[in-house]
Amino acid sequence: MVHLGPKAPAHRKGTFTDVPDVLLAELKSLETQFTVSPDKLREIVAHFINELEKGLSVAGGNIPMIPGWVMDCPTGKEKGDYLAIDLGGTNLRVVLVRLGGNRDFDTTQSKYPLPGYMRTATSEQLWDFIADCLKKFVEEVYPEGCDSELPLGFTFSYPASQNKINEGVLQRWTKGWDINDVEGHDVVPMLQKAIKKVGVPIDVVALINDTTGTLVASMYTDPETIMGLIFGTGVNGAYYEIVKDIPKLQGKLSDDIAPDSPMAINCEYGAFDNELVVLPRTKYDVQIDLESPKPGQQSFEKMNSGYYLGEILRLVLLELAEEKQLIFKGQDLTKLHQAYIMDTSFPARIEEDPFENLSEVYDVFMEVLSIETTVPERKVIRRVCELIGERSARLSVCGIAAICKKRGYTKGHCAADGSVYNKYPDFKVRAAKALRDIFQWKDDEEDPITIVAAEDGSGVGAAVISALTEKRLKQGKSVGLAV
Ligand code: GLC
Repeated sequence: MVHLGPKAPAHRKGTFTDVPDVLLAELKSLETQFTVSPDKLREIVAHFINELEKGLSVAGGNIPMIPGWVMDCPTGKEKGDYLAIDLGGTNLRVVLVRLGGNRDFDTTQSKYPLPGYMRTATSEQLWDFIADCLKKFVEEVYPEGCDSELPLGFTFSYPASQNKINEGVLQRWTKGWDINDVEGHDVVPMLQKAIKKVGVPIDVVALINDTTGTLVASMYTDPETIMGLIFGTGVNGAYYEIVKDIPKLQGKLSDDIAPDSPMAINCEYGAFDNELVVLPRTKYDVQIDLESPKPGQQSFEKMNSGYYLGEILRLVLLELAEEKQLIFKGQDLTKLHQAYIMDTSFPARIEEDPFENLSEVYDVFMEVLSIETTVPERKVIRRVCELIGERSARLSVCGIAAICKKRGYTKGHCAADGSVYNKYPDFKVRAAKALRDIFQWKDDEEDPITIVAAEDGSGVGAAVISALTEKRLKQGKSVGLAV
């Protein structure tokens, strides 16, 4: 008998008595492979702290720990109109943000779907597409034209090194992007050049990672914010480090940056444990990595981010169906053979099925894979989704715990955004439980560290960062390395 966890929602309860023993045995083995115990979580966190520190050291490590050149915490009083763009996985979002100066703001925005070919387009096609969208947007929001240059905050959610705030040298594409001639280059001049070509008065003042944007946006409205997190197509976090605790910056900063000044760090911890010291990888994770465009990179992200959850499920099902011949007997598996055919909404829908006979799961499989499923098969499929979803949530919080322990935070709000956080069923409950497992708070103690829904990082966050940058520049303070 397979047992569901004690906190499983009522609709998840159900018996597995109609599931054949051989299949149950497989499920049991999957449970063992995908379960991350509290002890294992604590072991991962301990290693995570070392890696955060290594990333800040002169020698560096797996986790890039990129200084974001945001060296002020927002006060909530920032004011003014700013443009912001966010190049996400499926859309380009353009936002006009009006910061009210009283922890308040107003936004006007448009979303432009990225054409399917964009992830592997040419570099020029990418920047031209963005510039065209910006032009359309500015013409719509300023029909009479605008009289001064518009400051723009560019949220670029990929590992990009920054020697100053308006620079981003792409280290490597992540999340399935693979556009030539961008890696190793500063993306800001490329975008600025395309903007110039279309003739709109826009100045790219800051390049921002989505996590840094989330951190700053949330701090603008909530002073108890201690970090910004994304649990979406990718996973990552940002927090404020103290300049004197960043060895790799020592001797490279201008005098106006005090040793106790804060510095936002984009951790890029999707790359945690690329050396594979502690991550409890299954053979499915190994296969995903090997077949990805970047084997050996983003090892942590590949186990828990939204880009991969459906693919992990596909690999498990393919093994049960084809190699072990235990499910989908006599059916055409052509679609199941297609890599990445199931995005994260697929396991999410399966977990959400409210019906006893899992009829939604039946529909999903017919729609997406043209496969007919029996009730016992559907129970197994759902349980596999729970295992994948639960593991994702548990691993996801290791970064939070590591940052808290490193900075000595014992309370505060961890502001989170992203499709997995917002839409994956039970992610929030599972993540909170995992934090408890790590910190071992007393049963009668309320969670002192909580994950809360973030403010819009790539809109409001980008605007606040642009405002903070303009202020520094006006004061003659530096926004990058000393030259
Ligand atoms: C990937 C990117 C990172 C981003 C994260 C969440 O890990 O490398 O820059 O913050 O996804 O979008």
